[in-house]
Amino acid sequence: LKDIALGEIQEASTIEELESLRVKYSGKKGQLTAIMKEMGKLSAEERPVIGKVANVVREAIEGGINTKKEEIKAIEKEKQLASEIIDVTMPGKVFTVGKKHPITKIIDEVSEIFMGLGFSIAEGPEVETIENNFDALNAPKDHPSRDMSDTFYINSELLLRTQTSPVQVRTMKNNDLPIKVISPGRCFRFDSPDATHSPMFHQIEGLVVGKDVTMAQLKGTLDNFVKKLFGEETKTKFRPHNFPFTEPSAEVDVTCFKCGGEGCAMCKQEGWIEILGAGMVHPNVLRNCGIDPEVYSGFAFGMGVERIGMLKYEIDDIRLLFENDMRFLNQF
Ligand code: PHE
Repeated sequence: LKDIALGEIQEASTIEELESLRVKYSGKKGQLTAIMKEMGKLSAEERPVIGKVANVVREAIEGGINTKKEEIKAIEKEKQLASEIIDVTMPGKVFTVGKKHPITKIIDEVSEIFMGLGFSIAEGPEVETIENNFDALNAPKDHPSRDMSDTFYINSELLLRTQTSPVQVRTMKNNDLPIKVISPGRCFRFDSPDATHSPMFHQIEGLVVGKDVTMAQLKGTLDNFVKKLFGEETKTKFRPHNFPFTEPSAEVDVTCFKCGGEGCAMCKQEGWIEILGAGMVHPNVLRNCGIDPEVYSGFAFGMGVERIGMLKYEIDDIRLLFENDMRFLNQF
């Protein structure tokens, strides 16, 4: 029995197998246990002799199991260590880190410049009221921009904002004076996409309202801004224009940053590039927002983010900005 048992123990290769061998021989119903149980039937002379032999066998089996158990444990530990070895000479995993979309980069850059000039950032919803997007901004009821073919209406009160100017209205209605904010955001117009039009685009609007806010300050602020964005040598030119919400209004041109005003393909040989709309906040708009135009005045300006990005990065098709083609985006 001892030899058979020790043979089986030697063959065992797992802790579980050893355990079932232990049960098989010295468990409650084990073979050795059965023999021990029979001892009572032996004579008084035979009992100590056989008992001694049985004890030797039991110790041998138990010792064999314990020794084998240690061996198996050692082997398993060995295996585990081998599987956990790290080859420090293997090349590391390359993680591709995401980067900012060119539109986000322009918004960040412009915001940074205006924050340096003391502006804070105001935001508003993309779904706006007709009141905030048109009425409060003094847009005549028959203004072409209100047309169904220019504006995405949601119902008789709501639309997708066509400009970030309604954030001016919200800011004036909800804040104490003086106000000095810019509001970057997404806008929507009913345009068919082509190289220069996208039904979804971004604007950055600026608004300053307080006592004695002047057109000279507007010019100074924008002059300062374009010099920081396009370079110190950049000059600005105000051309009279018309916006419902400003009076007087102007479109602002800057000297072409590519040719410095000489004329090149970028500026269509004109030397100047239009980048901003601006003006003094119309008294009606101040009044609509609960501000007395006899006491306070303000200036506002707005620019298209895509247009600035396309000029700065020399992108010739606005659609590239929204196609999310990695070959395009990876260039920024
Ligand atoms: N919101 C105007 C537009 O979309 C731009 C603008 C803003 C002009 C503020 C003047 C003042 O055309």
